Amino acid sequence: MHSKYRTSAAAPRSGPVGVVNKMSSIENMVAQRPAQSPQQTLPTLHVEDRHGVVHELEAVEGWRLMEILRDHGVGMDNTCGGALACAECHVILDAEWARRVPPPNEEEIEKLDELPMLYEHSRLSCQIIWSDDMSGLRLKLAQET
Ligand code: FES
Repeated sequence: MHSKYRTSAAAPRSGPVGVVNKMSSIENMVAQRPAQSPQQTLPTLHVEDRHGVVHELEAVEGWRLMEILRDHGVGMDNTCGGALACAECHVILDAEWARRVPPPNEEEIEKLDELPMLYEHSRLSCQIIWSDDMSGLRLKLAQET
């Protein structure tokens, strides 16, 4: 019997479709990177969670910022996965960093405008693709709405 959810013949046979493969977790991605010399530091970001605790997190090039926050378990568990449907990925960038991160597109701005609480440097973290030149980024998770 064919499943309407299976999208290709190459889809994995074990486990339901849509379940995150353990090999794609942030820890495995970080571990698979080429070895760093002692002088090199891994790209990191500094995140203040909704309880005021600051975390230093390792990040992986090409991942959505929301995915990095979610996989590190700092309170980004109930998102729509980046479909611009939930705004649960709302973060407030440090003012210095807000100028250095690519600006929001029209769809993100429209979704941000729907939020009851908006800050000067509010962003939807699912719309920010991490690049290693963002290392040092500082942000705060917005309180849930
Ligand atoms: S993850 Fe839903 S809008 Fe960003």
